[in-house]
Amino acid sequence: RKKVTIGTLRSMHRKGEPISMITAHDFPSAHVADAAGMDMILVGDSLAMVAMGMEDTSEVLVEEMLLHCRSVARGAKSSFIIGDLPMGSYEIDPAQALQTAIRFIKEGRVHGVKLEGGKEMAPTIKKITSAGIPVLAHIGLTPQRSNALGGFRVQGKTAMGAVSVLEDALAVQEAGAFATVLEAVPAEIGEVITKKLKIPTIGIGAGNATSGQVLVQIDMTGNFPPGRFIPKFVKKYGDVWTESMKAIENYRDEVKGRQFPAKEHTYPIAKEELEMFVE
Ligand code: KIV
Ligand code: NA
Repeated sequence: RKKVTIGTLRSMHRKGEPISMITAHDFPSAHVADAAGMDMILVGDSLAMVAMGMEDTSEVLVEEMLLHCRSVARGAKSSFIIGDLPMGSYEIDPAQALQTAIRFIKEGRVHGVKLEGGKEMAPTIKKITSAGIPVLAHIGLTPQRSNALGGFRVQGKTAMGAVSVLEDALAVQEAGAFATVLEAVPAEIGEVITKKLKIPTIGIGAGNATSGQVLVQIDMTGNFPPGRFIPKFVKKYGDVWTESMKAIENYRDEVKGRQFPAKEHTYPIAKEELEMFVE
């Protein structure tokens, strides 16, 4: 497969071809996403929760994100890879953000970075893009700010709220973001904002009219135990957890029953050698 570049993404957007994006957090999850033809892979800080078992994304460190980015970069050879700047690594000032973004490129081996926030992040987006690092913005519901938002809540549900999300969208576009994630807004608002922008919108819980879609891989493949909460916008396309569970239970039973390993899983030795050894 041909390498997806920022030019490829622009051309898809121009033609109205939806951009496909999914998260990955390690070598195998990156490899499968790349092999399945995802245009973009996000090393999202959601990995704090789905891959590290943390309560929320605010706990994950830059060093930890970089380790995951490097693993993803080794696993995905064609997709355009974006690393998520974790909370605390970019908000202080544009210089701090650029410093972190450079680490993501040099050490994380990603092609661009994502950061959360709208109007207030415009100078930061400008600073990072001026260094030649593509920035994917993230507006609407911004999980790193969930304490201030009063939880993981739909944004742009009132006329005033929707205006504010639109202003954020225009601000990040003006600042030089090559695209923006638009999370958890009513579908109609997702459509209007997409129409008003020249850059692509990558929706998650933003309806079907955005320029692309993104989902968290662990959620959409069903790689979590039954009963765990998943947001309304997630479609479960698989049941990986149940498949793994079946395989591991089967293995356990065969170990306990001495059915595994069978002959085909063992190494032979020549009869004479064995006889000599046994003597
Ligand atoms: O961290 C993440 O996975 C994200 C996507 C859901 C957009 O930010
Ligand atoms: Na994120």
